[in-house]
Amino acid sequence: MSSTEVDLTQVAEGQIVTVKWRGKPVFVWNRTPEDIAKAKATELSALMDPVARNANLAPDAPATDENRAAEGAGREKWLVVIGICTHLGCVPIGHSGEYDGWFCPCHGSEYDSAGRVRRGPAPENLAIPPYKFVSDTKISIG
Ligand code: FES
Repeated sequence: MSSTEVDLTQVAEGQIVTVKWRGKPVFVWNRTPEDIAKAKATELSALMDPVARNANLAPDAPATDENRAAEGAGREKWLVVIGICTHLGCVPIGHSGEYDGWFCPCHGSEYDSAGRVRRGPAPENLAIPPYKFVSDTKISIG
């Protein structure tokens, strides 16, 4: 299966880039400290979907910001999610909506700065694809 490499030096702080992986859009977000702080401040009890949906973790891992963001010291600013709304598959719009993440223009679902669904009808958090750091500045998705 093919993988996609992303050069993180090309993603400025605050910027979300979209890359293609197996024909799907994947969003790579270099989150600001404010984005991270907001995600960390959210109680798990406030989440519609309490599961991390992170292909790199156990299927029942909770949807903390730590379990959604990239793993490793200094890497928590990176959020990598499949850019497909978990309702009916539209591509959500970044940096929009009430929760500072994504807004889906099709039926109004909203996701927060950890890509967690906060307003339906979408039932699940944006999925996190398998990926790993191949260097400090490069990830390989898939
Ligand atoms: Fe996104 Fe329906 S496809 S809200």
